Amino acid sequence: MRGMHETGPRSVTAELTADDLDVDRTLRPKSLDDYCGQERVRENLRVLIQAAKERNEPLDHVIFSGPPGLGKTTLAGVVANEMGAKLHTTSGPAIERTGDLAAILTNLEEGDILFVDEIHRLNHQVEEVLYPAMEDFFLDIVIGKGPAARSIRLDVPRFTLIGATTRTGLLTGPLRDRFGISYRLDYYTTEELARIVVRSAGILGVDIDQQGALEIASRSRGTPRLANRLLKRVRDYAQVKAEGSITWDIAAEALKFFEIDEMGLDWMDVKILTALTKTFRGRPVGLTTVASAVGEDPATLEDVYEPYLLQTGLIIRTPQGRQATQLAFEHLGVVPPATR
Ligand SMILES: Nc1ncnc2c1ncn2[C@@H]1O[C@H](COP(=O)(O)OP(=O)(O)OP(=O)(O)O)[C@@H](O)[C@H]1O
Ligand SMILES: [Mg+2]
Repeated sequence: MRGMHETGPRSVTAELTADDLDVDRTLRPKSLDDYCGQERVRENLRVLIQAAKERNEPLDHVIFSGPPGLGKTTLAGVVANEMGAKLHTTSGPAIERTGDLAAILTNLEEGDILFVDEIHRLNHQVEEVLYPAMEDFFLDIVIGKGPAARSIRLDVPRFTLIGATTRTGLLTGPLRDRFGISYRLDYYTTEELARIVVRSAGILGVDIDQQGALEIASRSRGTPRLANRLLKRVRDYAQVKAEGSITWDIAAEALKFFEIDEMGLDWMDVKILTALTKTFRGRPVGLTTVASAVGEDPATLEDVYEPYLLQTGLIIRTPQGRQATQLAFEHLGVVPPATR
């Protein structure tokens, strides 16, 4: 069966348009005070940053992990800003060779912050070169090939590495151990997301009341990026259909229009759950089988959709594969197969 969506826009959850990235940038908080939620992480960082500043030392290396859109990149910027340090940004896959890393590291200045997004995707050789740089601030690199090859040692200024990863499980032990500070970001509560929505609406110049903000927040899957994205969609809807102001009924109406259900599931989530409940009748199924059933890439399924479905208890992971729970059957209104 080909649904209307297969040729249309991708899922609201997964799609990251250039426009979204622009909005991400404008709405990104710059200070710990503006960063909503994640109280434990925030208070911790506040102390560590103050201590490092008082000692006039760079902050220890930090790693942030957690599902997409929870604010890892944002926090890296906040830390740099609070430290008054210069931020350099790159990503695991962008550092292809050890020479690339050497160029980046030797260009840093004392106290600078190097942010490496998707750090679990660094290749092995690059990682090996990174260890001594993180620990003892030097690099051993090999120049030339064959008999003429020689190794030289370069000093690296004392810097802070901030790594971000959607999956701590994929970090190698030695790399993980070299971060002095490690935080896992959690899904946000509806109240925290509502605060983010109100803040973002203020920046975007959108009129919204508390009930409207809570309605958007409650369907944002605990994720600030989605809350901001839904806010934008609802704003568009409100502008065309309701003279601009976002109230509870406008928000609910708009989100229904954009096919975001009360649990914040979009059509792709529903498609996944439909496959697990109807096609596979609640049996456990492997990741690639689910992925091909819904026409999505397995890695995207695992990184983007699954964490929330697991967190809400709609699916479980068993050694035999992914399985829909009773809650999923109830949520979709599908009659579970009779248990034998
Ligand atoms: N604590 C927060 N308070 C306010 N806004 C936030 C917060 N966290 C994230 N945001 C908003 O959500 C957007 C997405 O956050 P960010 O890009 O930092 O997520 P991420 O964890 O790096 O995601 P990814 O894994 O996809 O890179 C930001 O642009 C920002 O506007
Ligand atoms: Mg990011």
